[in-house]
Amino acid sequence: MIVVIDGPAGSGKSSTAKAVAAKLQIQFLDSGALYRVATLVYLNCQKDYQKFFEQLEESEISFHFKKKKFHAFLDGRDVSDEIRSMEISENVSEVASNSDVRAFVNQLMREVVKQNVYIADGRDLGTAVFPDADLKFFMVADLETRAKRRFEEVKSSGKNVTLEEVKQNIAARDEKDSNRSSDPLKKADDAILIDTSEMTFEEQVAFISTEIKEVIASQNKT
Ligand code: CDP
Ligand code: CDP
Repeated sequence: MIVVIDGPAGSGKSSTAKAVAAKLQIQFLDSGALYRVATLVYLNCQKDYQKFFEQLEESEISFHFKKKKFHAFLDGRDVSDEIRSMEISENVSEVASNSDVRAFVNQLMREVVKQNVYIADGRDLGTAVFPDADLKFFMVADLETRAKRRFEEVKSSGKNVTLEEVKQNIAARDEKDSNRSSDPLKKADDAILIDTSEMTFEEQVAFISTEIKEVIASQNKT
């Protein structure tokens, strides 16, 4: 079974999905983290695309969800914190717009979800990667709210950035992610729209958990 949540940066996808996964004891997959790991490889190759593709093929990228945290590994090293830097955030949408990179990440994800029940978050999961997902959500919130949320996170991790920088990064990524030619950020026709601007985190978690339980119950009946 696969449940997907797509939407723009800071709408609440990954923290909500993580909380739902912990509550229902299912697996969580953060597809954005995989694009961030690919971006780390790109930066390690000094932005040389040819070197980057060679390196990406040779790299071992793996991940797991443990103790409510999604861990991403590059060649056996836990890079989960490193991939949250502003430098990665500033380059990730460019790297993710490349169709070869997308094919690479999609293959990684499709292999792993065969083995368990997953809730995954991203941009194109409901439209391109898992069009037959059992349940799809599209999570949105206004830009100001999303920037403030992300700013609080970045500030509490001790990084020195301003609210305006965070807002600009989010707006630039929204723009690139929505307008790229390969698998842009887009709501699937059959996705349930959730606007979290005025919702509490607990309401989001409860809403999605209830929907998932209903689907599981109806699948068990058939
Ligand atoms: O957590 P945040 O919303 O800041 O971003 P993320 O989920 O870590 O995703 C980082 C970037 O990866 C996005 O801005 C997209 O450019 C890209 N991405 C994508 O293209 N497709 C996905 N399924 C997930 C992420
Ligand atoms: O994955 P995405 O980029 O969509 O967002 P996130 O990484 O889950 O970040 C959203 C942040 O806003 C987290 O710190 C949440 O705790 C917080 N938040 C939320 O998701 N929903 C609310 N209603 C209020 C706060």
